[in-house]
Amino acid sequence: MKLMPTADAAAIGYAVQLLRQGRLVAFPTETVYGLGADAANPDAVRRIFAAKGRPADHPLIVHIKDAEALTDWAAVVPDAAWKLAAHFWPGPLALILSKKPCVSMTVTGGQATVALRVPNHPLALGLLQAFDGGIAAPSANRFCRISPTQASHVVEELGDAVDLILDGGACQVGVESTIVDLSGGHPRLLRPGHITPFDIEAVLQTGLLMPVSAQSATLRAPGMMALHYAPTTVAMRCPTVDLPAGIQQLTTDGKRVGVLAYRHPLVASKRVHIIHVPEQADSYAQALYASLRELDGLQLDMILVEQPPETAAWQAINDRLRKATIAF
Ligand code: TXA
Ligand code: MG
Repeated sequence: MKLMPTADAAAIGYAVQLLRQGRLVAFPTETVYGLGADAANPDAVRRIFAAKGRPADHPLIVHIKDAEALTDWAAVVPDAAWKLAAHFWPGPLALILSKKPCVSMTVTGGQATVALRVPNHPLALGLLQAFDGGIAAPSANRFCRISPTQASHVVEELGDAVDLILDGGACQVGVESTIVDLSGGHPRLLRPGHITPFDIEAVLQTGLLMPVSAQSATLRAPGMMALHYAPTTVAMRCPTVDLPAGIQQLTTDGKRVGVLAYRHPLVASKRVHIIHVPEQADSYAQALYASLRELDGLQLDMILVEQPPETAAWQAINDRLRKATIAF
């Protein structure tokens, strides 16, 4: 595995060369780092599944360079897709559309639909323009682990399983894209993200259906599985008022505790490691995965996460926390 900084002008050329050879290139997006392969090469796409340890029926997002490229992948591009693309791309929104027959089932995990997105990161866009094709890229972590938001996280997760990592620093958004399904009758949210249902409804001038629960979903969507984004240390969401007592009980039992706090002015002690994350939802999201990863690396007995508010601004964060932690 090779790590190359953005400043290296040769990096994109080398990345394109690797992609054309069917190899794997991790690259930054505004959300999280992606593990990329040529979306038109099923053997290359299979390497993504192997590197992540991800089951073959979990579909991948195909990254494209601009909205015009939608017609290379989607059999039908409804008006709603053009509107959302014009408004939010490049940006943290993936659209599910019915796929063209030429799109490999390897990339769509056997689905008749394909997920498409134009990422808003200069390095990702530079790579897509130079490659001039679709790049299939899930988050560059091992299956069921925390998504990487820095190049060093990708090294930790995948090591030599990836041929090249383009280092573009820390991701600005920090949680995965919003996913909207436009392949059926009415637009439906599949995964909350930085772009909220309110933002989408304002552009479409129509209501958005909410995700179906994991139990009733027939689709194998990894982001919908319980504890999908989990650290290896047991992690628990804890209401602000219960944090001090929770910590006291654990430390009295001789346990070492990590705390992810955004509001409570807790003070660290010998057995208590605290990470204070910002109180604004956007900045919190940016710091979330790196903070969980840091606490997870400390070999603690338990991680307590101060429960954020259940408001619209925190929807994507609460969704990820429900998948990374157990309830108090
Ligand atoms: O922000 C992101 O979307 C990042 C960056 C790298 O772009 N990618 C990402 O990929 O989060 P991944 O594979 O970790 O999550 C992709 C999600 C999964 O929940 C998958 O089930 C869903 O997209 N998905 C992909 N194709 C789909 C399809 N045809 N129908 C429904 N869901 C689909
Ligand atoms: Mg993922």
